[in-house]
Amino acid sequence: MSGNCNPIGIFDSGAGGLTVLSELIKIMPNEKYIYFADSANCPYGSKPAEEIIGLSDKITRFLITKGCKAIVVACNTATAAAIDYLRGAYSIPFIGMEPAVKPASQNTKTKSIGVLATAGTFKGRLYIETSRKYATDVNVCYQVGEGLVEFVESGKANSPEAEQLLHRYIDPMVDCNIDHLVLGCTHYPFLKPVLERMLPGHITIVDPAPAVALQTKRVAENHGLLCNEPFVHSINIEFYSSSNTSTLKFLVVSNLKQNHKVEDVYFANIKL
Ligand code: DGL
Repeated sequence: MSGNCNPIGIFDSGAGGLTVLSELIKIMPNEKYIYFADSANCPYGSKPAEEIIGLSDKITRFLITKGCKAIVVACNTATAAAIDYLRGAYSIPFIGMEPAVKPASQNTKTKSIGVLATAGTFKGRLYIETSRKYATDVNVCYQVGEGLVEFVESGKANSPEAEQLLHRYIDPMVDCNIDHLVLGCTHYPFLKPVLERMLPGHITIVDPAPAVALQTKRVAENHGLLCNEPFVHSINIEFYSSSNTSTLKFLVVSNLKQNHKVEDVYFANIKL
């Protein structure tokens, strides 16, 4: 029995969703993946929700024509704006990003947590509801990470300029006595090396990507969509970008390929 071996689709405004793809590969190495980076429209962070819904709809249609059996919206901002629409408009399952306010609120000892995300994510129903539900007795220091996505997209996540900007955002949170920092944007895990250098040792960085990957596996299982073919030799991924593919290639080579046996890859630039 091979199950359903159609690909799983993943999309983001750019290369941020690679941090989620990496976690998906860890727990489902025998699946095929199609990744779409909407680089022509990146960043999504301060775009109106209606525009993001329109873009997410076009990307979804593209991924469905490629045979995707489920779609991971590997972008907090697109999840906030479009996941309800997508779930209502299409019959395949969609898995979105969860702002990890719940685990941070449950584990904080200082009763103070930091959340770094885009303006769109903070405005979304999910963030507002989870904060109301889980962070009532916790002080939440939240900050819009204006400009951080651009550093990641230009391959400068590890630069002194990125570090300087991060200090502006993070230092007030440290002053707020946070002991957990939630990364509420899938681009931000690329900033982890800088964050780890600058954060005091008692602050835990919370990246929701592993939990989202587990949720994807659960959803695929429940819908009978897992591929049961054994893992053979390398991971099969197609990468598409609505602009040029150079950043994507650079980040795939410098991150994904270093951590996984990703050999069978294909890159294409496509106008939606
Ligand atoms: N990776 C997207 C997110 O998780 C980035 C948002 C943007 O493009 O501004 O929110």
